[in-house]
Amino acid sequence: MKKEFDRTSFHLEEQYQSLGKDKTYFIRTYGCQANVRDTETIAGILEMMGYTLASSQEEADFLLFNTCAVRRSAEEHVLGEIGKLKQLRYDNPNKVFALCGCMAQEEGVVEEIKKKYPQVDIVFGTHNLSQLPTILHAYYETHTHTFRIESTPGNIVEDLPAVRSQSYKAFTNIMYGCNKFCTYCIVPYTRGRERSRKKENILEEVVNFKNQGGKEIILLGQNVNAYGKDLGLEDGFTELLRDVAETGIDRIRFYTSHPRDYSSTSIDVMKAYPNIMNSLHLPVQSGSNEVLRRMARGYTVEHYKSLYDEMKEKIPSLTFTTDIIVGFPGETDEQFEETIQLVEYCKYDLAYTFIYSPREGTPAAKMEDDIPMEVKKQRLQKLNETVAKYSNEKNQSYLDSELLVLCEGPSKKNKEVYSGYSEENKLVNFTGKDIHAGDLVKVKITGCKSYTLDGKKII
Ligand code: 5AD
Ligand code: SF4
Repeated sequence: MKKEFDRTSFHLEEQYQSLGKDKTYFIRTYGCQANVRDTETIAGILEMMGYTLASSQEEADFLLFNTCAVRRSAEEHVLGEIGKLKQLRYDNPNKVFALCGCMAQEEGVVEEIKKKYPQVDIVFGTHNLSQLPTILHAYYETHTHTFRIESTPGNIVEDLPAVRSQSYKAFTNIMYGCNKFCTYCIVPYTRGRERSRKKENILEEVVNFKNQGGKEIILLGQNVNAYGKDLGLEDGFTELLRDVAETGIDRIRFYTSHPRDYSSTSIDVMKAYPNIMNSLHLPVQSGSNEVLRRMARGYTVEHYKSLYDEMKEKIPSLTFTTDIIVGFPGETDEQFEETIQLVEYCKYDLAYTFIYSPREGTPAAKMEDDIPMEVKKQRLQKLNETVAKYSNEKNQSYLDSELLVLCEGPSKKNKEVYSGYSEENKLVNFTGKDIHAGDLVKVKITGCKSYTLDGKKII
């Protein structure tokens, strides 16, 4: 068995339990579901300390930016927003501004914040969430800039509180970090090595959530198919998936899968249990073997296609989504065309597409990149057009079908229209009577748009 990480339990010491009394907080969250889940934890800790949620960032006594470092554009946006805080600080010097998440793990960014953004009072890293009470305490005691960033591979803290935005849908971390070191990606540096939670802790969380009326659980990890490898488990993810399905919870989803570790046994379990939703997000990144090799993805296009074929054969109704990067250093026109051909083969329901963004400290950032930005933009546009063609076609095929939708409540614009996700993970807007958030509603599809479906509740 490989080295175990530190496993501890969260406990809020008495001296911190009223630190947030009469104070409010507001959190702005950027990036992936890992950050969304971290924000739930941070909110849980703050509320245990007596803080209450402010109605806006302007009103909050404690304003936190939970940030993403995957692309430079996301970082620039956050820095722009932080720049605007100068005025807020001027209006009210008692406010406390903080930054956490993946940007906090980047040395260069932290230096930039120290130099150019003195209005940021606190910075804490992705491995320091559970220390938030002591961090805030230190700040209130000294009123000097407080930086708490660990670069260790991380630990696992159980029994963390959470404030969930929906009572019927919940994210559960099954593992943290990533060991894959794809050459473009900063995540292994900002989130540390792969470390899995123990299965009994995950199952306990799922069962408690179900007993409280929860309907949908989303298992989270940067690379869920590697679940349990650090615990010495051979096929840990498949076993976990089966055990979660056996709890009888209505719906299970999981993000994100990696083509290299995806096993046939996981496909079999998906097929065997109707409460594991028939949708799969399987990032491919490129349709060229040469580009995949330079990205160090560890699989070939042929392997990816064979996984796709196996899934479609075993679960014909499966919906399939992916992530694709264009303009990776040295990507030729021909290699880009191979990506287009792969999209034509897989006919994705949806693809999240990105222009490559060099990240300091990653191997790809040192590769020669002679593709002009104009060319990268043209490639992105062509890719998006190709993806949209198939998404549209796929959506059209749902006309007149009946889908089971987990209602998330009435839409903001029109109280008569409800929205929610179907088992296939299609966003459905629908009408009908006697509908509440958290209901599983049978909906007949009456119209199809590029990204959403319209329908009516079936009585
Ligand atoms: N540049 C562009 N896109 C990136 N991604 C990760 N790193 C980069 C980068 N440096 C994309 C990948 C990944 C998704 C979450 O973000 O497609 O799957
Ligand atoms: Fe990044 Fe690759 Fe890990 Fe995904 S699998 S988080 S792209 S290093």
